[in-house]
Amino acid sequence: MKPEAATNLEEVISLEERYQLATYKKMPIVADRGDGVWIYASNGERYLDLYGGHAVAATGHCHSHVVKAIKEQADKLLFYSNLVYSEARARAAEKLVSIAPDVLTKAFFCNSGTEANENAMRMARMTTGRNKIITFSGGFHGRTADAISATFLGKYRELGKPNVPGHLQAEFGDINSARALADDSVAAIMLEPIQSMAGVRMAEPSFYRAVRELCDERGIILIYDEVQTGIGRTGEWFFAGSEAGDGVVPDIVTLAKALGSGIPVGACLVTEKVASHIKENDLGTTFGGGMIAMAAVTATLEAIEEDDMLENVRTVEAYLRARLKEIEQVVNVRGRGFLLGLEFADAARPIHEALLDRRIIAGTSSDAKVLRLLPPLCLGKEEIDLFVDALRQLVRAQ
Ligand SMILES: Cc1ncc(COP(=O)(O)O)c(C=O)c1O
Repeated sequence: MKPEAATNLEEVISLEERYQLATYKKMPIVADRGDGVWIYASNGERYLDLYGGHAVAATGHCHSHVVKAIKEQADKLLFYSNLVYSEARARAAEKLVSIAPDVLTKAFFCNSGTEANENAMRMARMTTGRNKIITFSGGFHGRTADAISATFLGKYRELGKPNVPGHLQAEFGDINSARALADDSVAAIMLEPIQSMAGVRMAEPSFYRAVRELCDERGIILIYDEVQTGIGRTGEWFFAGSEAGDGVVPDIVTLAKALGSGIPVGACLVTEKVASHIKENDLGTTFGGGMIAMAAVTATLEAIEEDDMLENVRTVEAYLRARLKEIEQVVNVRGRGFLLGLEFADAARPIHEALLDRRIIAGTSSDAKVLRLLPPLCLGKEEIDLFVDALRQLVRAQ
């Protein structure tokens, strides 16, 4: 490490610790620039990024098409609100709806995952005239009041006290537990189709079908929180409509994270039926649909398409699963596409730390035995080899 790099590292860390609230446990990396699946630290070290900054960097870091679109938009107009029309917004909405399952025909843009979920729940209440929301144990939906009240995972709900009333908890994968709660005061059932933070938990395809049928039977709106699973992460644009979910399409899909390749943006995609209940001024947010974010959305979707990233995710996932068979300490691989939970026989945190020593960034979860991978969708077989070889060496050394 060069002396000036060391100074920069220490100075940046000490400044952040002094001036930023200490709400995050950080890795000792000063991220300086990114390129594809790599993050370069200010001391010149290069890290393989299998975490994507919380599943955000789907197109890889600084994808040239996305960067160009943002720069061009920045030169023209940084922002104007929804009081005017905008070509950037029109194109983004058209593109996003065009890749969504057919019945999801309209978009509402906001700024984050939690905000998308707040608006989805509000739309369900407006559509049904009912108040209660059923969500599932292990799901994570965000940290604003309604979303955190819907989050039955670890300590999160406690952090949001006093909770918004009317949130009911069912058991993920157990349709009878949802059925027992789903009376005519329930507006929505919301679920994270693959529960990422809980350790990458999936249900059987028949569960998603049964939830859809329950909603249809009792006039309840079905919301998929696809903040993590959406925009290609599972090797398909959405979990909605996928084989893993028995082809089920919900009434509302919420999105954020990957949608803008790192420019903050969230969205709700809704059916005509839901849209018909939402009137002028029912929803709103100053920055939603801003031009920079909209340019980033269109370019993100184009980059995924043009680089055939969905196909890449499927091929490379299969390769990773095959290679992981070499490591007997990995007892199970959960999830789909590039939302994977590697279950170890023992705690995953020491593995996470040992990988970091080898300059590989992975994630943990609320399941202590699960190492989470949420890499950019352009990750290749070569980098899988780097990862699996490092993993093999370090489990042997432990
Ligand atoms: C499934 C899911 N929903 C909602 C959120 C909240 O998104 P945001 O942090 O953008 O508010 C997250 C964030 O991790 C998430 O994983």
